[in-house]
Amino acid sequence: MTNVHDNILGLIGNTPLVKLNKVTKEIPATVYAKLESYNPGHSTKDRIAIHIIEAAERKGLLKPGSTVVETTSGNTGFSIAMVCIIKGYKCILAVSDKTKQEKIAYLKALGATVYICPANVAADDPKSYYEVAKRVAAETPNSIYINQYFNELNIDAHYQTTGPEIWKQTEGKITHLIACTGTGGTLSGSAKFLKEQNPNIKVIGVDASGSILKSFHETGEIHKEDIHPYQIEGMGKNLIPGALLFDEIDEFVRVNDEMSAYRTREIALKEAIMGGYTTGAVTQGLLQYANSHPFSKDDVVVAIFPDHGSRYITKVYSDTWMAEQGFINNGVHNYNEIYKTELIK
Ligand SMILES: Cc1ncc(COP(=O)(O)O)c(C=O)c1O
Repeated sequence: MTNVHDNILGLIGNTPLVKLNKVTKEIPATVYAKLESYNPGHSTKDRIAIHIIEAAERKGLLKPGSTVVETTSGNTGFSIAMVCIIKGYKCILAVSDKTKQEKIAYLKALGATVYICPANVAADDPKSYYEVAKRVAAETPNSIYINQYFNELNIDAHYQTTGPEIWKQTEGKITHLIACTGTGGTLSGSAKFLKEQNPNIKVIGVDASGSILKSFHETGEIHKEDIHPYQIEGMGKNLIPGALLFDEIDEFVRVNDEMSAYRTREIALKEAIMGGYTTGAVTQGLLQYANSHPFSKDDVVVAIFPDHGSRYITKVYSDTWMAEQGFINNGVHNYNEIYKTELIK
């Protein structure tokens, strides 16, 4: 029997690469998207959820009925909830109030208990989702705290899976790896593996406008003046994650909410790939990088598309939401040309 699994967790990893043919056509290189939405939990976070939980099992920290606690913008929570169902654990998640209702509904549909915490408070504020998750884990007997921002196993999950997959899929021809950084685990682990195979591979991190990761990479200092609220979920930070290996990254580019939203919708319309908001962000980051770093036709770029667009229907894929942000008809981009909805009268 082929492609038959004992349970849903058997489908984690081995995600496809798909060539981008239109959105990045001004770049002479071959650009592949690694579609992490093909994981059963529809995001790259399935990889870390199973890796960290199984490591805790091996250490004897989890037994049936134990609790797994985490802070998450949604995707990690979904993946942890999925793993917990199959393995018989309780799942408690602290999320930011920036998280859309449908993402919270997804988490609850998978049986998770969800605490909603204010997004725009300092990371060390007792109300922040980091502090709430820490407190719940400390107060719950037989629990583990995944702590994806500071857990080396987050990096290791991608070192063991995502990196080797990309190397094999491109037959070692990859020249550039680009990904959005939230915890930094995806890019750090994949980059570490790939640079061990070929130290010449260029690694590009994509940071959000409003986050401190890019300026920290460049100066080694935290620039608090860079911090401001932004809409993209899952990337950028107001703290320095331990799961981000800055030395593995050659350069950061910073993208804004508007261009990332535009690019997300363009990818759906032109490539028929319906990705999440950071799918647009990473592609926008690549196009910005290409402005100052010319590519050759022999270059092979892999861009990681972290999750599926179904979680953003009322956000980037909503004309109403786009208009509320001032992203439609703003005089810079003629969005209506592209996103026009025909009303049948
Ligand atoms: C939608 C989305 N994109 C990108 C990322 C960034 O991945 P990483 O945390 O591995 O840096 C995340 C992480 O939460 C995410 O949820």
